Amino acid sequence: MRNERKIKWIALVVVGLLVTAFAVAAPRVNPRKGKVFYKKYCRVCHDGAADAPEMSPMTKTMEQWSRAFKADGKVESHLSSVKDKTGYEITEQDLLDIQAYLVQHAADSDQPATCGN
Ligand code: HEC
Repeated sequence: MRNERKIKWIALVVVGLLVTAFAVAAPRVNPRKGKVFYKKYCRVCHDGAADAPEMSPMTKTMEQWSRAFKADGKVESHLSSVKDKTGYEITEQDLLDIQAYLVQHAADSDQPATCGN
C-alpha cells in the first residue's frame, strides 16, 4: 500500500517535470500570426505588382528562407523600408513568426503554399 502511494507520487513528479520541460522547449513562434504579418508587412511590396520581386512561401526552400532571415541577411537589410511603407516597426518576434510561416510552407516543406492559401 505504501509503495503504491510512493509510486504515484513519483509518477506525478515525473509527469510534472516532463510538462515543464516541454513548455520550456516549445518554440515561441506562431506561424499563424506570421502569415498575417507576412501579408501586412511583406506582401505589400512583394506582390508582383510593385518593383520588389514577387514572393510567396514556396518561392524559396526552407534553407533559403533561413538564410534570408539571418542577422546579415536580405530581410534585416531592408527593414527600414518596411517601416517607411507600412508605418509599423516590425519586431524581432514578428520576424520569427514570419520566418516560421515561410519555412513551414517553403518549396521543399510538407505543405508548400502560395500566398493565397
Ligand atoms: C517597401 C517595400 C518592401 C517591403 C515592405 C518588403 N520588401 Fe523585401 N524587398 C523589397 C525590394 C525592392 C527588394 C529587392 C531589392 C533588394 O534585394 O534589396 C526586396 C528584397 C527582398 C528579399 C531578397 C530578394 C529575394 O527574392 O530573395 C527578401 C528575402 C525579402 N525582400 C523579404 C522580405 C520580407 C520577409 C519582408 C517582410 C518582413 C519584406 N521583404 C518586406 C521591398 C520590400
